[in-house]
Amino acid sequence: MKSIIVYFSRTGKTAQVARSWSHRIGASRLEIIPMAWRGTFREVLHYVCATLTRKDMEIDLYKVDFEKYDRIVLMVPVICGMMSAPMRTFARQEAGKLHNVEYVIIHKGIKMRHKSLIAWLDKTLGEKHVAASSIWAGWGKEYKPARIDGESILK
Ligand SMILES: Cc1cc2nc3c(=O)[nH]c(=O)nc-3n(C[C@H](O)[C@H](O)[C@H](O)COP(=O)(O)O)c2cc1C
Repeated sequence: MKSIIVYFSRTGKTAQVARSWSHRIGASRLEIIPMAWRGTFREVLHYVCATLTRKDMEIDLYKVDFEKYDRIVLMVPVICGMMSAPMRTFARQEAGKLHNVEYVIIHKGIKMRHKSLIAWLDKTLGEKHVAASSIWAGWGKEYKPARIDGESILK
């Protein structure tokens, strides 16, 4: 099966998870990169504000033929209970164009199923996901996978 993992990562944690899973399952990777104020504190503020206000963030251009893939995995970090803005922008841009999509929600703290985030993604993409899971860490603990629904937690 030909898979691609699409992810955004501000601190590098999601990037680390995406990298290790892509090696494990032989998947390609696409990193979503926000453009404004790159590498500055202002970028962080903009990221948090855009996430909380559900605004789009300009993201770097990419050229990927998603039709070539049998499975598209979106790795989505959660900020203040919400989907990180760059992933939201990606989902809006790709609305109606992605098929066989799986979600992996990356988060910390209290273990949650993130039903509304998953419902928003399905609605925006116009496609019911094939599987959803979380990679979650309690405070001071290691990240570990938990299935939400469907089959794969990547395998
Ligand atoms: C400002 C901020 C707010 C966060 N809010 C939540 C939250 O509401 N729920 C949660 O489960 N995790 C929350 N987290 C934890 C992130 O989801 C977690 O650190 C994730 O690994 C971030 O992805 P990244 O490290 O690849 O950028 C928050 C992290 C930060 C920095």
